[in-house]
Amino acid sequence: MALGCRPVKVVASSAVSDRYDQIIVTAVTARVPAKVNLQLSVGPPRADGYHDLVTVFHALALFDEVTVAPAETDSVRVSGEGAASVPLGGDNLAARAVAALTDAVGPGCRDEPGLAIEIRKRIPVAAGLAGGSADAAAALVACNELWGTGLSQQELVEVAGRVGSDVAFALLGGTAIGLGRGEQVTPALVSGTYHWVLAFAAEELSTAAVYAACDRLRAAPAGDGAGHSQEPPAGSWAASELSTALMAALRSGDPAEVGPLLVNDLQPAAISLLPRLRQALAAGREHGALGAIVSGSGPTCAYLARDGAHARDLAVALTSAGVCRSVISVTGPAPGATVLSTAADQRR
Ligand code: C5P
Repeated sequence: MALGCRPVKVVASSAVSDRYDQIIVTAVTARVPAKVNLQLSVGPPRADGYHDLVTVFHALALFDEVTVAPAETDSVRVSGEGAASVPLGGDNLAARAVAALTDAVGPGCRDEPGLAIEIRKRIPVAAGLAGGSADAAAALVACNELWGTGLSQQELVEVAGRVGSDVAFALLGGTAIGLGRGEQVTPALVSGTYHWVLAFAAEELSTAAVYAACDRLRAAPAGDGAGHSQEPPAGSWAASELSTALMAALRSGDPAEVGPLLVNDLQPAAISLLPRLRQALAAGREHGALGAIVSGSGPTCAYLARDGAHARDLAVALTSAGVCRSVISVTGPAPGATVLSTAADQRR
């Protein structure tokens, strides 16, 4: 795809006799949400190693911020929650998103040879909340603004799909259905605001390792390893379908209808790698959570509360139970990646 630069980077100019002023954008900051999967149905492994999914993404009001600024050389700086685990080189997902956008629009859109990317993290790393994908989505919308590339959201979604499976959803936010490996996203109609409690684990889980564990559990003969008696089955190989019951519950806006319909095929795999997640989920249910699931590939556990007051009580109860590293309460759905602020210089 060669989309080219559309508008110029000058965001304002005024002719004053023979002189004119230009406002040049020098830095752009974007904010981007975490996600939980309300349904995560996983098909068999594909030839490319990925798995076809039927998923319902739901953005949570837990945000990272990413600032991009032209620079002499490329750099990535990370601060905040889990910063030490985030790669700073070309492996960084925000840096990969910038490279994918540059490929899409052509290097002529960039005046400076390099780009400084600064990531302020509140979304824990390798936690099943798509924090890395979120940072990639934020980098895409921030660079789209900085370089004046003027790509539409649909064009950014196409670039996002090449960076990672969850990046397209982080652009969209809200609640959305994801197909393919998750990168084909369609907004879903939902009502109401949902109150969630998130329990962060001390450990990290690699997404690839959890998918591999899911394949192993499904390939194992019944009762061999996968069958921890209280756990749901590890999921079937059959083609997955969108849960019409869940979609109807989400349209009703009633968390009591939504809670029992939450489903995650990766949950048994995440529990097989971190068995203490079973206690964390049970502790939430004991304190009245309407639904308790591992978020994505884990290890974060997500609990649906009746309302804000119940979420606060649940957060206190989970903290006292000592089943996790830390606990927060958040609402969903939240908006997708959004430009928060733009710094500019006036040049003559
Ligand atoms: O796309 P992303 O880089 O986020 O995926 C990380 C890893 O998770 C992949 O390398 C793959 O092992 C696994 N994955 C998968 N099927 C998906 C999404 C991710 O197997 N639909």
